[in-house]
Amino acid sequence: MKALVINGPNINFVGIREPGIYGSDSYDDIVALCQRTGLELGFESVECFQSNHEGDIVDKIQEAYGAIDGIVINPAAYTHTSVAILDALKAVSIPAVEVHISAVESREDFRQVSFAGMACFAKVTGEGIQGYAHALRLLAEKLDEPAA
Ligand code: DQA
Repeated sequence: MKALVINGPNINFVGIREPGIYGSDSYDDIVALCQRTGLELGFESVECFQSNHEGDIVDKIQEAYGAIDGIVINPAAYTHTSVAILDALKAVSIPAVEVHISAVESREDFRQVSFAGMACFAKVTGEGIQGYAHALRLLAEKLDEPAA
């Protein structure tokens, strides 16, 4: 089983940006955590991808078709705006978990809508970078379920 972890805009600045909200761990820490957790969970590989560009994220989701078994995605600000990322996730039909470092549900009104979330079977929020490990665990459990 192969997993893909996708991070959207400004997640490469975690550790620098608004540490009161996103904490002091860096993007490299997220990558190391995902790779370590993925191997512990029995994934053959965990590829981590980050982009500040919506179209690049759409391209990456399309490239996952036929190559990747499950996706963990933090679309960051595109969560609240991108129908294109929602459509790409629906197009490839790969099981996906939405993750957010912060507790988006307790923040501004404009963060209450999640387009990408409409194509995800689970959502993890407010657990800091550990939320990525939680999301990978949910993904592993889902992929382990007998096909319906
Ligand atoms: C975020 C929450 C989004 O609202 C925000 O735009 C981000 C990060 C999070 O991980 O908490 O960039 O996705």
